[in-house]
Amino acid sequence: MTAATAARTLFTALTGREPEGIWSAPGRVNLIGEHTDYNEGFVLPFAIPHRTYAAVAFNGTDAIRVASTFAEEPVEVELSALNTLFPAKAQGSDGQEPAEGPAVPEWSAYVLGVAWALRALQPGDANPGPSAGSGTQVSSGTQSRGVDIAIASDVPVGAGLSSSAAIEGATATALNELWGLGLDAVTLARAGRRAENEAVGAPTGIMDQMASMLGRADAATFLDCRTLETRSIPTGFTAAGLEVLVIDTQVKHAHSTGGYRERRDACERGAALLGIRSLRDAGVADLPRAAELMDEVTLRRVRHVITENQRVLDTVAVLGEQGPRAIGDLLVASHASMRDDFEISVPELDAAVDAALAHGAIGARMTGGGFGGAAIALVEHDAVGWVSDAVRAAFADAGFGAPHIFTVAPSEGPRRDA
Ligand code: GLA
Repeated sequence: MTAATAARTLFTALTGREPEGIWSAPGRVNLIGEHTDYNEGFVLPFAIPHRTYAAVAFNGTDAIRVASTFAEEPVEVELSALNTLFPAKAQGSDGQEPAEGPAVPEWSAYVLGVAWALRALQPGDANPGPSAGSGTQVSSGTQSRGVDIAIASDVPVGAGLSSSAAIEGATATALNELWGLGLDAVTLARAGRRAENEAVGAPTGIMDQMASMLGRADAATFLDCRTLETRSIPTGFTAAGLEVLVIDTQVKHAHSTGGYRERRDACERGAALLGIRSLRDAGVADLPRAAELMDEVTLRRVRHVITENQRVLDTVAVLGEQGPRAIGDLLVASHASMRDDFEISVPELDAAVDAALAHGAIGARMTGGGFGGAAIALVEHDAVGWVSDAVRAAFADAGFGAPHIFTVAPSEGPRRDA
């Protein structure tokens, strides 16, 4: 059964009715630019063919009811109670204070959090940027109608492929249409990020939501995380006969705890010591000064972010000037920086990257937040089987569990499927 059919079937089982529509949004891989988003830097992700589907209809009540194929029980909350569930932070949608953790099951907080964030939007909150389209306005009143939502997904969970951004994107796109909000993609992405930060309590940046909401076939999204300006960058993978292999190590990670938050804190500490608003405002030329101002660990965290921002800019330039075959070294340097300076890789990710490179990959790196999840490898179309076998053999030799390996092509963003 496809995930779209699973969403419809679950909806019907839950309500005894047909949904009014099915909306979906994709997961993503990040081609390059890791842990730069919350430092107001640059990223270059693309949406993947794996998607999350939301089957939705009004339910004639003032409550929102959510079910998922991942969960046993649906969750029901009065729309008016969402504010008590996820109290708004004083500093607003870019606030960095983590929530205490949801009083509802975590999976449902992605969906309910988006409903909450959309209802909390005020006129003037909609993205005023160039991609907003003309006349984007938050309308009022329509967000008061209750809905039933059934979620199903074929985005692997916990693999660093932004299954959460896909849930947020599908929910936001469905509610935007049903509630008649008329919001642009960037405003919906910001609502998704707010759900993640404040409803779920994961202190993440905005890359994943933007990558999902702005996905385009055959193109990556270059995003300036300070201004939220985007540029669609043709990857040229297909024309060059290249494939992107995803190697899901099956080592699960969660960004609402632990290492991700620590890395974020280190970046903020480094920026404060440099006397700048964020690491976006520092360049490679600032590294000698940084070395005098901070301890060795903080310096390495800072060095990763500064050099990674430069690698994103270089990748965009190289893709345009020389094509995708020429970006391999940048991918490899990015992985080394995450492994050695940012220290967010794990042995399985290193093994995946090393084995892919040793067997002819043009470039390879871990993708996403780290501490598990997936690596990507850029490989010749004809070498997919060979490289995949080599990675599987390396995992077996090292005594690791078998990885899940598949190819992804840059794909389109949210859509209405039915
Ligand atoms: C996770 C977060 C993103 C980003 C990446 C690291 O995917 O959700 O916001 O910080 O990690 O680049």
